[in-house]
Amino acid sequence: MELPVYVYGMSVLRKVASEISETEDGLDQLIADMFETMRASDGIGLAAPQVGKSLRIFVVDTSPASEDRDEPELKDFRRVFVNPIILEEWGDPWAFEEGCLSLPKIREEVTRPPNVRIEYFDEHWELKEEVFDGVRARVIQHEYDHLEGKLFIDRINPIRRKLLSARLNAISRGRIDIDYKIVYPRK
Ligand code: NI
Repeated sequence: MELPVYVYGMSVLRKVASEISETEDGLDQLIADMFETMRASDGIGLAAPQVGKSLRIFVVDTSPASEDRDEPELKDFRRVFVNPIILEEWGDPWAFEEGCLSLPKIREEVTRPPNVRIEYFDEHWELKEEVFDGVRARVIQHEYDHLEGKLFIDRINPIRRKLLSARLNAISRGRIDIDYKIVYPRK
């Protein structure tokens, strides 16, 4: 089932999300719903706080981006990250334009290290440790931030952020027009 996306202005996006226990009710359904929501909204990553659940889980599927960018490693990058921990980030920081389903129609260059090592449970509660770089690392870093109550606009320079304030204000008042389901903050 496609879930409505919580947008800028909703407090759940600013909370540090809770760890999930192996006995969490309805986890399989949540995962299925998150993938469906991500597809419906043309996203390549989605974290549970974005559908109103303050839980440490995000899903990623970068295959739509593989065609645009001609990067074959994005094609089969489809994962569920449960209780992830970024163990290490390294390399010369690089700028990449990020967007977010919770910040409709805002895109900004964000600078982050190119490599991550991450530990997480997959959807079968199997513990994994993997290293990613480039766009795959970037999507992970962005989604991981959501579990910490952070948004990419927190990582841009204050002048750029100031320039966005009218648009952010409009989002938080529900004055936006987009083609996926959202929860309007002040309605
Ligand atoms: Ni996001």
